[in-house]
Amino acid sequence: MTTDIAPLIDERPDTTPAALQALRGDSLYFNVAGSGPTFPVAQRSAERFRTWLNEVGMFGHVGYAAYNAALEATRADLAAALGDPDGSARVALAQSATDGLNTLIAGLAIPPRSVILTTLEEHGSALYPLRRRAELGDDLREIGWHRDPDRFLEEIRSGSRDGARALVISLVSCKTGDVLPVREACRIAREAGAISIVDAAQALGQVRVDVDDLGDPWPQMAARAARDRRILGP
Ligand SMILES: Cc1ncc(COP(=O)(O)O)c(C=O)c1O
Repeated sequence: MTTDIAPLIDERPDTTPAALQALRGDSLYFNVAGSGPTFPVAQRSAERFRTWLNEVGMFGHVGYAAYNAALEATRADLAAALGDPDGSARVALAQSATDGLNTLIAGLAIPPRSVILTTLEEHGSALYPLRRRAELGDDLREIGWHRDPDRFLEEIRSGSRDGARALVISLVSCKTGDVLPVREACRIAREAGAISIVDAAQALGQVRVDVDDLGDPWPQMAARAARDRRILGP
């Protein structure tokens, strides 16, 4: 029998390798992105909630309230994971990192023909919308990463001197797994008045991701733009 209580999230799911194996036992799959098989523990939890929602009716007062409460709990969880426990209102949920990056990059409120800095370590989900902006007139500088932070930061500095209005950078490279010097790069960009977009898709859960590591105090406009429009995928 269906109750009015939404299925609770399992706070301590089984995360042993065997429990996370989504495919049949005779196959091995190296999960690289959101398009891979979903972990069974997450799949079951989502299906339990969806089945319940379907039974009580998504847009009834019970279903809709529970749905909104689950989204709010997810935003609060993410804000806490990012070192900003009171920041749930600053988190917007997206379908995927691709969705979030496209929205952020296409929505950059900067003057036409701006200099935008990025790295050659970025995922296609950032490079495609950036190159589209370049086709439309922005001056996109794709900076190579040679495992030499000083050389890299010098190029960020040089682009900033040229009046860069935005920086798009991954915290952990999806190509090499290298942790890029994001904190310093964002500080340089911020001091030059540029907005930073940090792609933490490979970082969250692997290395510490803390919004304050990106360097408080933020100039007001950069802070509002970068923090309030933070969009996260799974
Ligand atoms: C650094 C990085 N950004 C973005 C993405 C795209 O992620 P999604 O599959 O959530 O769109 C990936 C996928 O692996 C990635 O590694």
